[in-house]
Amino acid sequence: MKEEGPRDLMEKIVSLCKRRGFIYPGSDIYGGLSGTFDYGPLGVELKNNIKNLWWKTFVETREDMYGVDASILMNAKVWEASGHTGAGFTDPLVECGKCKRRFRADTLPNESGKCPECGGILGGERKFNLMFQTNIGASEDEASRIYLRPETAQGMFVNFKNVLDSFHPKLPFGLAQIGKAFRNEIAPRDFLFRSREFEQMEIEYFVREEDWKKHFENWKEEMELWIKTIGLSSEKVHVLEVPNEDRAHYSKRTIDFEFDFPFGKKELYGLAYRTDFDLKNHSSASGIDLVYFDEETKERFTPHVIEPTFGVDRTVLAVLLESYREDEMGGDGRVYLALPHVLAPVKVAVFPLLKNKPELVSKAGEVYKTLKKEIPQISFDDNGNIGKRYRRQDEIGTPFCVTIDFETLENDTITIRSRDSGEQERVSLDVLEERFMKT
Ligand code: GAP
Repeated sequence: MKEEGPRDLMEKIVSLCKRRGFIYPGSDIYGGLSGTFDYGPLGVELKNNIKNLWWKTFVETREDMYGVDASILMNAKVWEASGHTGAGFTDPLVECGKCKRRFRADTLPNESGKCPECGGILGGERKFNLMFQTNIGASEDEASRIYLRPETAQGMFVNFKNVLDSFHPKLPFGLAQIGKAFRNEIAPRDFLFRSREFEQMEIEYFVREEDWKKHFENWKEEMELWIKTIGLSSEKVHVLEVPNEDRAHYSKRTIDFEFDFPFGKKELYGLAYRTDFDLKNHSSASGIDLVYFDEETKERFTPHVIEPTFGVDRTVLAVLLESYREDEMGGDGRVYLALPHVLAPVKVAVFPLLKNKPELVSKAGEVYKTLKKEIPQISFDDNGNIGKRYRRQDEIGTPFCVTIDFETLENDTITIRSRDSGEQERVSLDVLEERFMKT
C-alpha cells in the first residue's frame, strides 16, 4: 500500500473543508478565481472564534491597547510614504515567451530558464508590484488611482495622531486592528497559505527608542503564548531570525514564527521592529507632525514601533492541520478535529436518541433552546443513527454531544459524550449548562 505523505494531509483538509462547509473555492460556480476563498457557515465560526479570542487577548484584557478599524481604501499618498509603491513591495517576475504565463522567479524549481508549463524560454526577471490598483470616482486617470491595502498596518499609523488627541495614551501603548489585506500574488498557492485576499490581525506598539529590545522580547513571549493557546504544538513552530537581505524595507529586526506546514516550514506570523520609519515618513509626506509629547519629561519625539503581525487565514490553516486526527472507535475508522474548545465552530450538539419518538424530539428541542441562549454555537441533529451523528460532529470538531433518551424523560438526566475519548457520562440536566459555560 502507498504510504501517506504530508501532501495527503493537505488534500484531506481541503476536501473536508469543502464537504463540511468550512471553506470553498472563491467564485466556485464560475470555475473559481485564483487566490480567493469563501468561508462557509462552519469556517466563518472558526475564523470568528480566532479573531474574537485574539481581540480579547490583545485588546480587551489589556490597558495599553486601542482598537481601530480603518478603511481598506486609503489615499494613494499613504503607500508612497510607506514605501509600498516602490521597489520594497515587489516580487521578482519572469514571463514565458511562448505561453505568456508568469512565474515568481524565486519559486521556480530549477535554473534552466525554461517554462515549467510549456518548456518555452523564460524572459528576464523584472519587479512586479503586489498592490491591486483601482480608481476612485468616475475618472480613470493617474490622479484617481488608489490601491487596495496590502497590510492593515498603515491604517494604524495614519490614525496615530487621532488616537493621541482623543485618548492621550502614555507610552508604551499600541493600536490593534483586524481586517482584510490584498496582494496580487504572482503565484497564489497552498490553499489559504498564499492567497490574494486575506485577513491580518496586527498591532503597532509604540515605544521609546531605547526600550525597543525589551518590548520586542515581551511581544515574542506574548506571541508564543498565543500560539500555545490556539493549540499549535511547540515542536511544529520555529523562530527564524530573518537575515538583513530578506527583511521588509521598513524593518531593522524581524523574526518569523514558522510552522511545519505539509508543504514545508513556512511563515505563520512575524514580529518586526519598524523603528520610526512609518511615523517619520508620514510626518514629512503629510506635513502633520506625528510626534509624542511626554507630559512628565516635556520631551517631544517620534516613537519607535514593534509590530506583531498574525495572518488570520494562515492561523485557520495551521489550526486545522494541527487538529486533524484519524483513529478507530468502536471498530470503525473515524476522522475528528481535536480543536481547542474555544475555537470549535460548534461547541455542543444536541440529539434526541430516536427521531420517531415525539416525546424525545420535543424534550431535546427544549434542551437545545435553553442551551442556545447561553451557547449560541450549538447544533441540533436528529438525522440518521446516533453513531453517524457522533461521526458527523467529530469531523467538524464539536467537543461534546448531548443525547436525550428515555431515561431523560424519567429522571431529567442526559448523556454527554466527549469528542476525543468517545466516553459518555450521565449527568443531570441542571449541571449541563454550568458545564458548557466552562468549555
Ligand atoms: N504589516 C506587516 C506585514 O504585512 P507580512 O509578513 O507581509 O507583514 C503579515 O504579512 C502576515 O500576513 C504574515 O505573517 C502572514 O500570516 C499573512 N500573509 C501575508 N501574505 C499573505 C498571503 N498572500 N496570504 C495569506 N496570508 C498572508
